[in-house]
Amino acid sequence: MVTVSLRSMPRLFDLIKIGSLQLKNRIVMPPMATGLATTRGEVTEDLIKHYEKRARGLGLQIVEHSYVLKGGKLSPHQLGIHEDKLAAGLAKLAERIHSLGTPITIQINHAGRVTASDVCGQQPVGPSPIPHSSKHEVPREISRNEIEEMIEAFSSAARRAVEAGFDAVEVHGAHGFLLNQFLSPLSNKRKDEYGGSLENRMRFHSQIIARIKENIGKSFPLLYRLGADDMHPEGLTLQESKVFAQNLEKWGVHAIDVSGGIMGSRPAHLTGPGYYVPLAEAIKSVVNVPVIGVGGIKTPEFADEVIGKNRADLVAVGRAMLADPKWALKAMEGLRSSN
Ligand SMILES: Cc1cc2nc3c(=O)[nH]c(=O)nc-3n(C[C@H](O)[C@H](O)[C@H](O)COP(=O)(O)O)c2cc1C
Repeated sequence: MVTVSLRSMPRLFDLIKIGSLQLKNRIVMPPMATGLATTRGEVTEDLIKHYEKRARGLGLQIVEHSYVLKGGKLSPHQLGIHEDKLAAGLAKLAERIHSLGTPITIQINHAGRVTASDVCGQQPVGPSPIPHSSKHEVPREISRNEIEEMIEAFSSAARRAVEAGFDAVEVHGAHGFLLNQFLSPLSNKRKDEYGGSLENRMRFHSQIIARIKENIGKSFPLLYRLGADDMHPEGLTLQESKVFAQNLEKWGVHAIDVSGGIMGSRPAHLTGPGYYVPLAEAIKSVVNVPVIGVGGIKTPEFADEVIGKNRADLVAVGRAMLADPKWALKAMEGLRSSN
């Protein structure tokens, strides 16, 4: 008699494409700041080793947020991508990860109002002069000329990533940083065409994406990390983020990496497995590009279930991968041998 296993095949190892970039599975290492760069933002050997240790078995590795302008630097040892001379170190990082057979992306960011003058060397800037909290400095409102400068800075940073050999670029639009600040009505009270209606609040983002694509080509894989919900009565709602996500797709973004908004990536009140996956699921229901889900994903079984139930197209595993660098390899062995 033939026995048929009732357990279904894992889906975590299905192939998927982000634009033209072929991935061997659905496991993503999300961007996580290491504090291992030099104070000038340069790549160090320790930083490369941190990524090398975790690269094997991943579908995609996303390198931590790197600042596109000195005024948008968040912390003293943050990775930089704001100057051409940083490209050689970034190229070394990309090459070492490629030699392990893993595609690599880098996240580009401007911290806006959440940085501090002693780190970024100037009064922090934001869409409006509203501090992030009572512990933060009051930011200076960004002028129209500076908006142009920032659009150019994001575009130049993306070009540096391409020149350094990265396979994709991720724009950081979550966790209360500058692009999140422009989208959120909590931090954007501008009276010009960059504030007010959702259409106006999305203008900066549409111009950044357009300039990046002009600079690196329409087909170069581009991801966007979306802070999909401020979880605040006067903040950005999931409903608005759905419209924004549809626009991201229209502007040519190839994948949306869904996380939280102004209150950050790991709010204390959200701890369960897959705590931001419902946001990914909601965004996935309105777009056709792949969506990455994140938040408290610890076990391969749960990660596989998220993919199997079509709640997200890819899963990002953060802290569990910091704790166990071999997470992806073990997932492969574990899930395959139990089937
Ligand atoms: C130490 C640390 C640094 C992080 N740095 C970044 C970052 O640079 N960019 C970003 O978008 N998210 C960052 N995050 C958030 C993670 O990418 C991820 O969304 C979050 O940790 C939730 O996933 P997890 O529960 O699997 O850890 C960071 C998280 C941690 C723990």
